[in-house]
Amino acid sequence: MASEFQTSVPVHVCIIMDGNGRWAKKRLMPRTYGHRKGVETTRLAVEFFARAGVKHLTLFAFSSENWNRPEEEVNSLMDLFMQSLRQYTRELNEKQIRIRFIGDRSSFSADLQQQIAATEKETGDNRQMVLNIAANYGGRWDIVNACCRLAEQVKDGLIAVTDIDERRFASGLSLGDSPDPDLFIRTGGERRISNFLLWQLAYTECYFCDTLWPDFSEAEMSAALEDYSRRQRRFGKTGEQIEAPG
Ligand code: IPE
Ligand code: IPE
Ligand code: MG
Repeated sequence: MASEFQTSVPVHVCIIMDGNGRWAKKRLMPRTYGHRKGVETTRLAVEFFARAGVKHLTLFAFSSENWNRPEEEVNSLMDLFMQSLRQYTRELNEKQIRIRFIGDRSSFSADLQQQIAATEKETGDNRQMVLNIAANYGGRWDIVNACCRLAEQVKDGLIAVTDIDERRFASGLSLGDSPDPDLFIRTGGERRISNFLLWQLAYTECYFCDTLWPDFSEAEMSAALEDYSRRQRRFGKTGEQIEAPG
């Protein structure tokens, strides 16, 4: 059957959804208006990438540094998380999408922590796609956390220092049970990682675009997949080795 999608669909896509504030500012509206509009794009993206056959989608919703924003903006983002979780859980179940949060959730209000746990549980058996929401997440935090786990295991005599290798280290990270992202997308024009998945992005294909997140359309999501399908992933080998394996 002909498909609207290219042959090499990434298994894992991760996105820095950036540009909500500037989108609102251009319209002389408060930044929070941009965040609300951004949620609509998020919903569209989840639906689009699931339909494309992507199995893991990781979205950066709130970084560990975003607490430094004005209190009013932080509060309204927290309200928006709460509302969105309540509003979209049923839809996630209909689409067979499992949601998971990565990041330090202990800084969120008790209500929000409870809602997160409930949504994770209610969608826990869904198998079409895993949607990871990075909230109060930082790549450095993740790496330090993984180090602490290993240190504990060494201290308790469960493993020796010489048992530590990349595989064991990676399994202690937030996405330790998921494949590394194949495609990283950042909207909003900045060409940086902003403390997102530092370890996991080692060999990820990066796609940056200037479109602000609330304007990021299905056509542009398609363009990102199309661009990805034209990349040659070499993982250190030569192009010739990849073209003629064996
Ligand atoms: C991304 O949009 C959303 C969050 C960080 C929560 P921004 O709010 O960073 O938007 P800009 O970059 O200021 O336009
Ligand atoms: C990264 O965007 C975090 C999220 C999209 C949630 P920022 O807007 O916070 O990144 P910087 O500050 O421009 O690097
Ligand atoms: Mg930003």
